[in-house]
Amino acid sequence: MPKEKIEEIKKQLADLKKRWPAHSVPPAMMAQLDDLETALSQEMNAHNALSEVLDIESRVFEVRAIGRVENAFDEPAPPEDIRSCESTIILDPHLAEGLQGLEKENRIMVVFYFHRSEGYDLLQHPRGDESRPKRGVFALCSPRRPNPIGVTVVDLLGIQDNILRVRGLDAINGTPVLDLKPAG
Ligand SMILES: C[S@@+](CC[C@H](N)C(=O)[O-])C[C@H]1O[C@@H](n2cnc3c(N)ncnc32)[C@H](O)[C@@H]1O
Repeated sequence: MPKEKIEEIKKQLADLKKRWPAHSVPPAMMAQLDDLETALSQEMNAHNALSEVLDIESRVFEVRAIGRVENAFDEPAPPEDIRSCESTIILDPHLAEGLQGLEKENRIMVVFYFHRSEGYDLLQHPRGDESRPKRGVFALCSPRRPNPIGVTVVDLLGIQDNILRVRGLDAINGTPVLDLKPAG
């Protein structure tokens, strides 16, 4: 079934990305990434074709990272701790022209992918605190959600070429960034 294959390929991609070196990626690793992304795209197309016949709501969409977060937090931590530190967003240099018009001191919305999140429950204790009653996932900001996507409004401290310095972001080191847009 395409859906199971998609999950398997996503797992392989996640495993590969966990081993991804910060600098100088070996060519074999890059080739493996290309192969997995191609396979994922093919399986998604197959799944979408099937979904159109069966159930339009279960379509799978392809979204690509436009950059990644760099900061001192390699592991999940309380959001206020991460937000209090400066983070850097390294944008794909090919997309840097798209930053034109953004200025220091703007507030921007960062849309990102919780790449270290696994699975979800529809009802969860807020912040994992069992002393608090469970709530629906859509009433929470939990990283464990059906589509593990985070959205945070941050202060833009500076831009240099494809690199943005921000404060207020609660995404950990290595988090893939999906989009940036002005916040209000
Ligand atoms: C509660 S979420 C809120 C994120 C965002 N403000 C939102 O509302 O969508 C923030 C927490 O997610 C966790 N987190 C951050 N980046 C993550 C990632 N890439 N994978 C998994 N968990 C992550 C951290 O523990 C962080 O404190």
